Amino acid sequence: MAWTIEPLPTSGARFESALAVYREAFSRPPYSDTERANEVRTRVASQHGRRPGFRAFCATHGDGRVLGMTYGYRSEPGQWWHDAVAAVIEPAAYAIWLTSAYELAEVAVAPAFQSFGIGRALIERLIAGVPERTCVLSTRSDSNAHRLYRRLGFVELAEMQFFAGGHPFYIMGRLLPPAGDGTAPPGVHRDRNANSLAIG
Ligand SMILES: CC(C)(COP(=O)(O)OP(=O)(O)OC[C@H]1O[C@@H](n2cnc3c(N)ncnc32)[C@H](O)[C@@H]1OP(=O)(O)O)[C@@H](O)C(=O)NCCC(=O)NCCS
Repeated sequence: MAWTIEPLPTSGARFESALAVYREAFSRPPYSDTERANEVRTRVASQHGRRPGFRAFCATHGDGRVLGMTYGYRSEPGQWWHDAVAAVIEPAAYAIWLTSAYELAEVAVAPAFQSFGIGRALIERLIAGVPERTCVLSTRSDSNAHRLYRRLGFVELAEMQFFAGGHPFYIMGRLLPPAGDGTAPPGVHRDRNANSLAIG
């Protein structure tokens, strides 16, 4: 099956088609959340779409249908997700993973088109060439998405709940190729081959 990855605008018909895909994907277990797509529309318009490094892509079928979508931005202090993760990980891990980080905020593929490699292609396009040193994300630990993330080189940094009594999420991170500054924080040495960083 052929598809194309293209930039996704943050409003209009194509964005609404992407949200419809998102709604369908997240209405399935374990998320079973039909409202989340509306929250994403609001967040993109009011916050996420204005963040530094915001980029969004969709996968489209040859007939123009949207099959999947993703977006992300630079992860910075003052952002809800960034601060929630910073509160639970060790300072040394924070220095490595969150001081120059690109957040993969959302990714979804229409259920009928999952397992064809579209999710992987969307993620690879999203993070290609971003200047940050790492890519970070969270995913429910009872979903299958983390298997894909592991195959893409992400490692688990922590498991946490964002709300008391809420579902556990894996926080995952991956080093990115040195497209940008490529610098590590003081005292941190890069080891790209091992996809790891050493402190000291
Ligand atoms: C997570 C998600 C985006 C992945 O999208 P996808 O297009 O299915 O991803 P891929 O096809 O690239 O990879 C998924 C699986 O298909 C397999 N696959 C990839 N290409 C394949 C191909 N050509 N043929 C068969 N299988 C293939 C991968 O090995 C992977 O296997 P896994 O299920 O063991 O992990 C999608 O499942 C989804 O929308 N899920 C619901 C929402 C969600 O969980 N989003 C992430 C929240 S953090």
